[in-house]
Parts: sequence; C-alpha cells; structure tokens
Amino acid sequence: MASQVLLMLGLAAVGQAAKGVKNNDPVCRGSETAPEQLHFNYAGDRGMTVSWNTASKLQSPAVRYGRGSQLDKIAYSDVSVTYPTSTTYSNHVFIDGLEPDTEYTFSVLCAEENDHYRFKTSLPAGNPRPYTFAYIADLGTMGSLGLSDYGQSDALSPGEITTMQSLRDFKDEFEFMWHNGDLAYADDWLKEEQDGFLPNTTIEGGAAVYEAILNAFYNEMAGNVTMERPYMVGPGNHEANCDDGGSGDYTESICVQGQTNFTGFRNHFRMPSAQSGGLENFWYSWDYGLVHYIQINTETDFLGAPDLPGGSADENAGPFAPNGTQIEWLRKDLASVDRKKTPWIIVAGHRPWYVDDAQCDTCQAAFEPLFLEYGVDIALFGHKHFYERLSAIANNNPDPRGLDNPSAPWYIVNGAAGHYEGLSSYDTPVANYTVKAIDTVYGWSRFTVHNCTHISQDFIASGNGSVIDSATLYKKHDGCKF
Ligand SMILES: [Fe+2]
Repeated sequence: MASQVLLMLGLAAVGQAAKGVKNNDPVCRGSETAPEQLHFNYAGDRGMTVSWNTASKLQSPAVRYGRGSQLDKIAYSDVSVTYPTSTTYSNHVFIDGLEPDTEYTFSVLCAEENDHYRFKTSLPAGNPRPYTFAYIADLGTMGSLGLSDYGQSDALSPGEITTMQSLRDFKDEFEFMWHNGDLAYADDWLKEEQDGFLPNTTIEGGAAVYEAILNAFYNEMAGNVTMERPYMVGPGNHEANCDDGGSGDYTESICVQGQTNFTGFRNHFRMPSAQSGGLENFWYSWDYGLVHYIQINTETDFLGAPDLPGGSADENAGPFAPNGTQIEWLRKDLASVDRKKTPWIIVAGHRPWYVDDAQCDTCQAAFEPLFLEYGVDIALFGHKHFYERLSAIANNNPDPRGLDNPSAPWYIVNGAAGHYEGLSSYDTPVANYTVKAIDTVYGWSRFTVHNCTHISQDFIASGNGSVIDSATLYKKHDGCKF
C-alpha cells in the first residue's frame, strides 16, 4: 500500500525487468513491510546510507544495488528501529565501497518488482567540478495536516507550487539537499487543534496526530525529491518535543514517551557522524568537491543552549554528550580541514545570531569564535520564517570588504520554506549588516560552487521558480589551484 502511495506521488521507478531485493522473500508481508518514506544520504567518501520506513520491523533490512541497471550487489543491516507512539519502523542500510561521483541503481527489501531508484555518490574532496546544492530550513507538512490553501495565515494560493514541489521541479539542477532543522512541524498538532484547523483530540490522541503529520511529511518529501537526491538534515527546535515547548495552558510536560528529546528525528536519519567523529544527526561533517560542509547543533550541547532543560526555549531536551563535546569536536573538525583540497568551509546551524529578530546570543558565544579562528567562509541559518541575506560579519560588525574577499564568514538566514505557521516579519529598521530582507515569499536557496574562488546563492521563490535575490561571494583562498 505504501508503495502505491509513493506511485501516486510521482514515484520514479526506473529500469525494466531487473529483480528487486528479495521482493518475493517470505519475510515480505504486503503492506506490513512495504517501503515508504524513502531517502538516502552521503556516508563518507565512498558510502551512502539508504533509509526507509515500514509498518512492521524488518529483521534484516537490505538494499540491492549496482552500476547502471545491474543490481548485482546487496547490503544488509540489522537496523530497524522504532519508538513509543511511532506507527512505523525506520530501516537504515549503510553501503560502502562505492565508486565516487557515480550513479547507481538500487532497490530495497520488499519493494515492488520494478520499484528501482537511483542515487549518485559523493564528489571526492578536491574535485574542482562546479555543482549546485539546495538549501532549506523550516519546511513542514503540506496540505490538510499542515500548510494549505485555507484556514491559516499566509495560506498558499489555490494550486500554488510548494517548496517541496519547487525542489522537485529543479532537482535536475542540484546534486543534494541540505535541510537545516525544523522538519515536518508535527509538534504544531496542538496549535492546529487549538486554531480549529484540525479536529480536537485528547492529549493521548494527539500523539497519533503528531505521528500522522510526521508520516505525511516524509512521504511527501519522498514523492517529490528524497527518493532522487541525497537529503542531509540537522536538528531544529521543532524536532525537540511534541508541542513546540507548549501552547496555551499546555507545556511540554504533556508529551508522552517517544515524543520528547528529538526521538523521532534520531530514529529517522543516520547522518554521517560515524564517518566524521560527530554525534548522530546532531553534529557531523562531510566533503563534497571543493567544500567541507559542517552541520552544527544550535539546540542543545553547549553553554546556555536554548532547548536544554531550563533553557530559554523551554524544550526540556538534551544534552546528548558530556559538556563541551560538540564544541571540542567542531574545533577539531575545523582544524583538520585540508584547505588545499577543500578551500571552502560552509557551516549550517538552525538558530541565527545575526538576524533582524530575536537572536541566539548563547549560540554566538559558543560558535562564532571558532568560525572566525578557522576562517569559515559561509554560515547558514534558519529558524526565522523569512529570508535575510546579510553581509560578511565578525563580532557584530559587517566586514568592510563586503563579499569581495572578506575575512569574516558570509551569513545567510533562510527559514522561508513554508509550514503551518506561515511566514513571520523581520524587525525594522534592519541592522547595518543586513543587505536584503524578504518576508513575503516562500522559497529556498540554490547554491552554486563555481570554483575555488566563487560561490553564488540565489533565493528561489517556490511559487514561480523566479530568482528574487542573488549574490556571489569571492574569496581568495590561499593555495587555490583551480
Ligand atoms: Fe526553528
């Protein structure tokens, strides 16, 4: 049944008669084991992790794969995990020993006979080939459980192209997606009921609504793009607990086991922390061509982190490692970057400290000194439901050279992808480091890594695909050979 859902959503089955992965295997039991919510992500220079969900546990999740249409290899795992309140199991299979920058065809256990998909492996560090990636933050479920064309502020126009659909339409232009926190907005279920957008349930019944929103999001993402492009993710506050820190008379104390402390997020993904010395999906890094990418966690695990118990955001979440672990990892990771191979460093964290709205000062205190010490080139944020292109900034001051070989990181905030809560407004007058602010349009960022010295960012309006802001950073990297 789940595969049928994916088919209806635009499933890209490829190949003709090649066999699936043991889809006749006796362990396959119809809708109980049918794959849904399919996605995959880079896992080291020669690895890929393929993930999908099933209604029942799989004893041995498996992926058959191969070059071209030959599915002549198979990878297994024993990772089929769930949590209280979940209606599914998350299955994860790590495939290693792949050829870099190479397209593979694959199928997953119990898929329909011809449900074959494709992924392309990572571009090796130092490879100067230009490429594009898609950057989003704050993207929620679309339709009757989330952002729709009725009954809420900043509702979509009837037939309006959503950010998910825009990513689908542009997918041939980019090589991977990076979702920097706040996925699905399942924790808006209580607010949606209080607003009369969804029918009222009980607190216990709310857990089922939460899971329905999560499942809808991951299936929508699969139907549009995550079955076809690698999907890298990081943590945001909406992953923390069941009700966004509380709503009205309710606090996060109503959250039942399974809907606290980033549980769904931890189950659903296997980001490449094992390959980069990081921690789960919270902090990790990977190389791709001329760029070293770093995901940081602005929610927990540093001094004054907002989602910690008693923190400013009251999410009662984390920490996930001993004091200092994340910051020490970040220092080591930054120090180990071979700038001759990957001259660019791009970091993404969910909560911004430079933005024309409430800022995360504790995040700035924790992370900015390292960004400056190690020459981070670009810092990406979300959380605020608008778009702001800022200057290159150091210690609250715009770099006098702007984007013309600045010594400070270039900051961009884009949390305008769209979800039930709609858009928000930036504060005016804007700060002296704000170059462009847009709070009326849903959209995503398209980054193009041209070469060793130039990276461009375009803000794409999801509704019509137009570029409504664009800028290019020039950096004269030492040792740049390309
Ligand atoms: Fe957020």
